[in-house]
Amino acid sequence: MKARILVSRAVFPEVIARLAQHFDVSSNQADEAWTPLQLIQKLQGKQGIFTTGGERIDAALLAACPELKICANMAVGYNNFDLDAMTAAGVLATNAPDVLTETTADFGFALLMATARRMAEAEHFLRAGQWTRWRYDLFAGADIHGSTLGILGMGRIGQGIARRGAHGFGMKVIYHNRSRLDAATELGCKASYVSKEELLKTADHLVLVLPYSASSHHAIGAAELAQMKPTATLVNIARGGIVDDAALAAALRNKTIAAAGLDVFEGEPKVHPDLLTVPNVVLTPHIASATLPTRLAMANLAADNLIGFLLNNKPLTPLNAKVLI
Ligand code: DGY
Repeated sequence: MKARILVSRAVFPEVIARLAQHFDVSSNQADEAWTPLQLIQKLQGKQGIFTTGGERIDAALLAACPELKICANMAVGYNNFDLDAMTAAGVLATNAPDVLTETTADFGFALLMATARRMAEAEHFLRAGQWTRWRYDLFAGADIHGSTLGILGMGRIGQGIARRGAHGFGMKVIYHNRSRLDAATELGCKASYVSKEELLKTADHLVLVLPYSASSHHAIGAAELAQMKPTATLVNIARGGIVDDAALAAALRNKTIAAAGLDVFEGEPKVHPDLLTVPNVVLTPHIASATLPTRLAMANLAADNLIGFLLNNKPLTPLNAKVLI
């Protein structure tokens, strides 16, 4: 008998078709928003779930879904999973690393460029019919080339951004991370390890690429923003909650820092109302990994994890492999 799985959000039809070759699939191609209780109801009798990053998998859900064996996230981030609770319940968690690294690093760099060079503000100005003549300082922003790029969180995506900055734009790259990279990796990215304090004080552009956890909650708040240069830009492509959005909006309004580019928000898809009223911020709706080839690769990797685990006990990218033993 085929295992039963739930795909909790709309995804590529060809991925649903692949899954249907192996499983009895219930899907949500209408992309309805389910409450946590509805999710539990839909999961009854299912051995696997394909998640996309917004579905909370915690002890309460696990207790109510005793047949569940695997949650496969179509995202590299997995802060929607309570990994300890999943491990305690013997439920496998998988994520979707690597396939999105370069696409996400491209976007991080694009958001940095748009922020430093004030592209969104300038475009709104033009569309509003306010462009009447040249001015020496019209939307004059900050240089990227030759400046100091700071990266907080130097995993695969952070390293991709560092390579783009160092090799493509001649930037000096500094980073802070839980642990220092080995010498060869630092050399490949031309990146130097510094303390968080030095990173904040020295970076002309600071890009956040660290995972969200209780310890990174509000890693950038009023105190950290106050340490940054008044000409600095801040870019967050990691997770909402790493930045205190209210403190950031105040810092942007007061010109504590020059500008910010945000792809992720505390409590998204809601956006802090103060961020919507400051001009010096570029806002995008969590699309850093959103190219069609990359999103398809992420979906296929989540599917491969379901197939590999439920058919052969061999997931590709397990997060709590100890449940396999
Ligand atoms: C991820 O994979 O974690 C990205 O944020 C895309 O959702």
